[in-house]
Amino acid sequence: MEGDTGNRSEKEVAVVTGGNRGIGLEICRQLASGGVTVVLTARDAERGAEAASKLGLPNVVFHQLDVGDPSSAARLAGFIEEKFGRLDILVNNAGITGTTSNVDDPEAFRQELAGMDLMQRIEAINRHSTESYEQAEKCLRTNYHGIKAVTKALLPLLQSSSHGRIVNLSSYYGLLRFFSGDELKEELSNIDGLSEQRLDELSELFLKDFKDGQLEARGWPNEGGFAAYKASKALANAYCRILAKEHPSLCINCVHPGYVQTDMNFGSGHLTVEEGARGALMLAMAPKGGVTGAFMDHTEVASFV
Ligand SMILES: NC(=O)c1ccc[n+]([C@@H]2O[C@H](COP(=O)([O-])OP(=O)(O)OC[C@H]3O[C@@H](n4cnc5c(N)ncnc54)[C@H](OP(=O)(O)O)[C@@H]3O)[C@@H](O)[C@H]2O)c1
Repeated sequence: MEGDTGNRSEKEVAVVTGGNRGIGLEICRQLASGGVTVVLTARDAERGAEAASKLGLPNVVFHQLDVGDPSSAARLAGFIEEKFGRLDILVNNAGITGTTSNVDDPEAFRQELAGMDLMQRIEAINRHSTESYEQAEKCLRTNYHGIKAVTKALLPLLQSSSHGRIVNLSSYYGLLRFFSGDELKEELSNIDGLSEQRLDELSELFLKDFKDGQLEARGWPNEGGFAAYKASKALANAYCRILAKEHPSLCINCVHPGYVQTDMNFGSGHLTVEEGARGALMLAMAPKGGVTGAFMDHTEVASFV
């Protein structure tokens, strides 16, 4: 099996966010096939329960979780506490692009994309996307604040594990090279000088600059579209690094899965979900004492810049 996790202790417990489809569903499948008890979570109870049951694995349970709703994260923490008393692995996978696509015929568009090279596909998807303030705000709320809320709710349970691991599905688009301004780039690189409060302020500043048409002037990532997605992933990366520093007993890392065939890109990725899940699974199943505070490009440690 692709990215086989081996037959690890059945007693390990994992939570995967956005586990009902795409890369998250594949991570659930492979973790559970490797013997981990998986709490597959999804914001929509029907879609989540159906995905969990289709996996047909006895060690997969479903629980509702909307990462944008802190009360939902608190309910999940209560469930894990009561059922397992601890958590070994948290995979923060749920994410959105913060855009709306204006494609009339998705099937025809898929076929059009299939005839293009990778860069052309990304450019075509961007040309058919719009990004409103409302969507940008939702993108920050899901990809940055959502990761924080879920992590905070589950942190005490991860600390109860002898080997707590957090894996954040990041993106190449979260790299600091996409920022056009040196000031923001330097601030987000300097982890020792950053705080969670400052990251929250930067999230607000991004939205203000978005509203005022000042993204370019401030040096936010703006070229090539997906501005909120890029900013949200960069802020989530910085949060991951801060958290890894604060909690040296845990392994907390980010991973870019590659360009993977999922709904997020009209199935135009060049990697299958099995291939895209490989880096996240490597981190999720890494032995104690492994890398922490790192960015992985697929399966290789890489720069945050
Ligand atoms: N595909 C790629 O090429 C690629 C590249 C780089 C990074 N990534 C990252 O990899 C992760 C997974 O992406 P994917 O390609 O598998 O995307 P996908 O197929 O679009 O799936 C996204 C998942 O996130 C869930 N989700 C969205 N908002 C949520 C919320 N508020 N609460 C809970 N779940 C929520 C979705 O649930 P619903 O079904 O309810 O919408 C869905 O299960 C994302 O973080 C993405 O940014 C993907």
